Amino acid sequence: MFFKKKNGSDINDDQIKLIEAAQKRVKQKKRLFYHFTFLIFGAISLLTINLLFEYKKEIVFFEYPWSYLTIAIWILLFTIHLYNVFITNKFMGKKWEENQIKKLVSLQEIKISKLKMEFEKEARIKAESELFNQNNSGKCITLIAAASENDVIGNDNKLIWHLSDDLKHFKDLTKGHCVIMGRKTFESMPKALPNRTNIVITRKHDYTAKNAIVVHSIHEALEKANNDKQPFIIGGGEIYSQSILLADRIELTRVHTEVNGDAYFPKIDLKIWNEVSREEKFKNEKNEFNFTFIRYNKK
Ligand SMILES: NC(=O)c1ccc[n+]([C@@H]2O[C@H](COP(=O)([O-])OP(=O)(O)OC[C@H]3O[C@@H](n4cnc5c(N)ncnc54)[C@H](OP(=O)(O)O)[C@@H]3O)[C@@H](O)[C@H]2O)c1
Repeated sequence: MFFKKKNGSDINDDQIKLIEAAQKRVKQKKRLFYHFTFLIFGAISLLTINLLFEYKKEIVFFEYPWSYLTIAIWILLFTIHLYNVFITNKFMGKKWEENQIKKLVSLQEIKISKLKMEFEKEARIKAESELFNQNNSGKCITLIAAASENDVIGNDNKLIWHLSDDLKHFKDLTKGHCVIMGRKTFESMPKALPNRTNIVITRKHDYTAKNAIVVHSIHEALEKANNDKQPFIIGGGEIYSQSILLADRIELTRVHTEVNGDAYFPKIDLKIWNEVSREEKFKNEKNEFNFTFIRYNKK
């Protein structure tokens, strides 16, 4: 049998049963077809033999020639065969069909409950963000990032490019403010950023960071930055994607190249964000690529 599972391949037991039943079914139909062909030839042969030899001779209890009786019995047997294949012998039996329906229903139920959970989670995050935005009116929470055309921001916990003007832009904007970052971004830097309040987010409760405040959620980080009218969220990918809904502004440096990486900036939804300014910068000895500073404000 060539449908056996190969090293945990995708073919499961149900599929194997289905294939085997289909093969059996083909055989049943073939046999029925042969039976039909045989019946036709048989009937013609019987009639011919009967005609050639004893056509007129009737059977005692049957007023027609003997070949008629034989063919009638044969047709009856064929009808039983036909009935057996198409009426009583359903594809995989009623029980199998019921089991399949039950399985399908339970799979759908699992899918629905997963979707429900995801939907509830999204609704909760949205409600939290709205509440947060109401409580923080007057503030300008800003995401600041440099991303390639394909949204890559880093690889192997390192930055990908050297753009001197972008570093200067970052320093100018964030100087004197709170800078909020994920633990991985903090560890990718040689030390805490000077002249700024560094806030590091981690789930580790015993984590310590030199010259930085350690917190355990984005909301806690923003609470610590309560006195700052413009706290900056400076990455990385995980923190950007969790905080983009909370932010009022994005200061994006779009680097005009496509690169491979393992950390990404989330897609900017232009239904939510309005581009308010842009400034192009060109490649030179201090900047590896062409890039553009783009500012988005939340609509
Ligand atoms: N191009 C840019 O503008 C830019 C800017 C910043 C960073 N980067 C790059 O981005 C990469 C790092 O980004 P990443 O996504 O890998 O890591 P990340 O966002 O910097 O940090 C992830 C860590 O943050 C903590 N964390 C995340 N969500 C949390 C939550 N809800 N509550 C508590 N803690 C939470 C966890 O720390 P624990 O594991 O300790 O719990 C998690 O492992 C690096 O390659 C870096 O160079 C690029």
